[in-house]
Amino acid sequence: MRLQIKNRRSRLSSKEQSEFSGLLGGWADSPKIVEMKKFIQHGSVDTYAHCKKVAETSFWLSRRLHMKVDEKSLVRGALLHDFYLYDWHDGKPERKRHGFTHPLVALANADREFSLNDIERNIIGSHMWPLTLRRVPRCKEAVLVCLADKQCSLIETLFCRR
Ligand SMILES: [Fe+2]
Ligand SMILES: [Fe+2]
Repeated sequence: MRLQIKNRRSRLSSKEQSEFSGLLGGWADSPKIVEMKKFIQHGSVDTYAHCKKVAETSFWLSRRLHMKVDEKSLVRGALLHDFYLYDWHDGKPERKRHGFTHPLVALANADREFSLNDIERNIIGSHMWPLTLRRVPRCKEAVLVCLADKQCSLIETLFCRR
């Protein structure tokens, strides 16, 4: 049986949802970030929806695990973790190394557009670990996003087909 998950419901309570939106501030509506809607990430899910889901999942995990984290940096770093702004399915030869290279492309783009702190920079740069062996999550926030990204990517790849 093929499952379709089109509108995955949020696991956040309504209070948490408003806190989550507050932490993102205007970033979720920033025209540069909204540009990620142009590109497909996995299956039928665009990169913007993927990044927002990873941010929400990271926030949800931190709350359920009662972790003391910098929540603003957590959700903002997660929102920007795949801010590489190209279609990785376009068949260009350089896409063969997309899995290894896109965190640094996303980080360079994010650094150019926003004023990032060290937590946000580590979240973006290390989110593909252990694939990127030497770019390791060095804070709790980066570990959470690394885990949330893998969970969301798996669900999107398996259940959100075009
Ligand atoms: Fe990624
Ligand atoms: Fe991702």
